Amino acid sequence: MELTLAEFAWLAQKRLDPPVWDFIEGGAGEERTLAANTAAFDRICLRPSVLRGADSPDPTVKILGRTWDAPLAVAPVAYHTIAHPEGELATVRGTAAAAGVPVVISTFAGRTFEELAQAADIPLWLQVYCMRDRSITRGLVERAENAGFEALVLTVDAPHLGRRLRDLRNGFRLPPGILPANLAGDGFAEPAAHSRTGFDPGLDWSVVDWLRSVSALPILVKGILTGADAIRATEAGVDGIVVSNHGGRQLDGVPGTLDVLPEIAAAVGGRVPVLLDGGVRRGRDVLAALALGADAALIGRPVLHGLAAGGEEGVKGVFTVLLDELTDAMALAGLKTVTDIGPALVGPAPHPLRHGGGAFPTVPVGPAVPTGGTGRGTEADRPSATVPDGDRPHRTDLHLSDLHASVADPVMGTMNFLNEVTLRYPRAVSFAPGRPYAGFFETEQIFGYIRRYLDHLAEQGNSPEQVRETLFQYGPSAGLIRGLIAESLRADEGIDVPPESIVVTVGCQEAMFLALRALMAGPQDVLLVSSPCYVGITGAARLLDIAVTAVDEDGTGLSCAALEAAVLAERARGRRPRAVYVVPDHSNPSGVTMPLETRRALLELAARLDLLVLEDSPYRQVSPGPQVTALKALDRDRRVIHLGSYAKTVFPGARIGFVVADQPVREPDGGTTLLADHLATIKSMVTVNTSPLSQAAVAGALLESGGRLSRLNEETAAYYGEAMRFTLECLAREFPAGHRERLGVSWNEPGGGFFLTLQVPFRADNDALARCAKEFEVIWTPMSYFYPQGGGHHTIRLSTSYLTHADIEKGISRLARFIASQAAPAA
Ligand SMILES: Cc1cc2nc3c(=O)[nH]c(=O)nc-3n(C[C@H](O)[C@H](O)[C@H](O)COP(=O)(O)O)c2cc1C
Repeated sequence: MELTLAEFAWLAQKRLDPPVWDFIEGGAGEERTLAANTAAFDRICLRPSVLRGADSPDPTVKILGRTWDAPLAVAPVAYHTIAHPEGELATVRGTAAAAGVPVVISTFAGRTFEELAQAADIPLWLQVYCMRDRSITRGLVERAENAGFEALVLTVDAPHLGRRLRDLRNGFRLPPGILPANLAGDGFAEPAAHSRTGFDPGLDWSVVDWLRSVSALPILVKGILTGADAIRATEAGVDGIVVSNHGGRQLDGVPGTLDVLPEIAAAVGGRVPVLLDGGVRRGRDVLAALALGADAALIGRPVLHGLAAGGEEGVKGVFTVLLDELTDAMALAGLKTVTDIGPALVGPAPHPLRHGGGAFPTVPVGPAVPTGGTGRGTEADRPSATVPDGDRPHRTDLHLSDLHASVADPVMGTMNFLNEVTLRYPRAVSFAPGRPYAGFFETEQIFGYIRRYLDHLAEQGNSPEQVRETLFQYGPSAGLIRGLIAESLRADEGIDVPPESIVVTVGCQEAMFLALRALMAGPQDVLLVSSPCYVGITGAARLLDIAVTAVDEDGTGLSCAALEAAVLAERARGRRPRAVYVVPDHSNPSGVTMPLETRRALLELAARLDLLVLEDSPYRQVSPGPQVTALKALDRDRRVIHLGSYAKTVFPGARIGFVVADQPVREPDGGTTLLADHLATIKSMVTVNTSPLSQAAVAGALLESGGRLSRLNEETAAYYGEAMRFTLECLAREFPAGHRERLGVSWNEPGGGFFLTLQVPFRADNDALARCAKEFEVIWTPMSYFYPQGGGHHTIRLSTSYLTHADIEKGISRLARFIASQAAPAA
């Protein structure tokens, strides 16, 4: 009797012809994604809860109005008849014999819908590939609906089938007699070639409307891998989402599905069910998927393994094993029902857990190695199983899928893209970087500042040796100049905190890292961000595997009502919203400033919801005129962690930032420390300490201005204010009222800071940016970069800070011509 799904796979491999086995098992390209699917589950560590009286757990779930015996379903897989002559008939009967869960029947099923509908009383869903000839798709849908199918699963990741190297090497053709039972015509023997002529490659989101126009059944989309697409799908009105990379058979290099699940679940926010497939091979994998936000998991290849191993009985065996493993894991983890499963159940494994010999047979990729390798072991075991020691290559080839997912995160890629565009078109006027204007910098200033600080140390009674030590040695992790920073905060900002509550950091970016690392204790903790959002904080969260939930700004910035709704929704999902990140003054990227009443309301809300506020405010002291009181200055009960930077007020090359963390921390021994103490401890493992030379330079600037950065920056702030005013003037000149409305152009009018945002009548993506840079020699930033969960597709960010008036005038006039050229076809 088989005790694991791996044993069914082993039996199947023995029974199937090697090219058929390869057709089933293979993935596209180098099979990185195929490996990533299972690797993601292997990295998971479960965190059980004991003494919960959960010995007879109930695995039932309710999805789309139907109760399923378990959070499981059969993924759509073409031609079950290739594994067993009874094909889908045996699958439906075998599944029903083990559990009342749905079977998704492929467009390319080997048995007819009508006979399957008669076979058993479990929900059947139809997987839809949308064909070039829509009448074929419509016919399939109508037949399935008439037969009693209950839902449609539209596959959206396959304009054509992926490059599956095993099939190409094997010259794979479907064996004689293997045909789609519900499609007429021919040319099916080579699935990849057929997909190129049969599938509609030009689909867009309107296909969902079309499908809805031909059927009343609920529609799920299968093949979603990003939060942004999940949002588009919900906006298109789908009834469910299947997180899937087609079992690694389409675009190789996309992440494992479990890795992207939290982002998608957060984006969907419980509005529709989220299902997942790819690499689910054990009951505990189902638990992991549910813990990270799925409502159920779909099983692909193992169903074919069961079929090949024993037809109907084999499929029943696969689902029996999965169900046994699932209920066993639930009982041992202290979970009485599926609703008890939440993010607290999972953590990353300290090192990848090895399957104790229960892994799938692995098939090495590459022409030199025979297909159908029989090594039974994990990815880590594979080299020794297939390559003799003496032949082992000396080079260490790392796989992207083995690196942290942030390495391949599209956000990191977009920033590179922006840098590249700027370098590739050096003659272009660039409104992209948020840099300070260089006209006020003088090299000698730096020496003057450092001298000033050293004199100050001497005046304080330090001996020449002590002064020397201060500059040459490592220094305290928390920083040398905390006292001066505290004085300056008091003088300039009305923020009254003791020096001990401050940690000096390497730029504000390190301050964000330290605060996030210390506050976010486990996978259940969520960071809320006002969206659009500065990428530094979302990037830091990504690197630290911290879940982010976006709270959309309205025209006036963060809305407290939206924040409260987001907090309550997260709590309902079993997560702990820990802190909200805001840039209240002249925000990067939107340019919006939070009014005083909103600041008060935010602090009141944070107290009521027991939430911390991360305040990041680098543009206050470089903006003209009086500023709205800082959140930290209004903070009476230490809710606000203030993140500071001297990049704009002194100079960015110093890389000096700081964090004010005056929150008391209760220690196990009854004593109390400050959060800042703990941030300094973590810092000692990151950058050890902030460069004393850089601290000296900033301290000198603080001393020279009597702690008043506002005074130091009077001229600079006036300059930036003037640059912003002039940019707005140029925009108004280029887009006079009337013309502006006709084109669909509008912008906001920030009173300070470096950024403003412009609504444009075209999709402001990388392609548009590259065209604009090349043909019109002007560069801007797509606002979509700043929406962690999608949005901003018709908005651009303009940075006005470091350009001269001549550049601004030239740049805005070029931009106006580009916008007109983009709007022209629609006009
Ligand atoms: C042999 C085979 C055929 C497949 N045929 C289809 C199909 O017709 N339609 C579809 O949407 N997905 C198809 N898939 C993808 C599966 O629905 C599913 O996404 C994938 O198999 C899940 O990964 P797993 O095999 O690791 O469980 C197929 C997968 C395999 C292995």
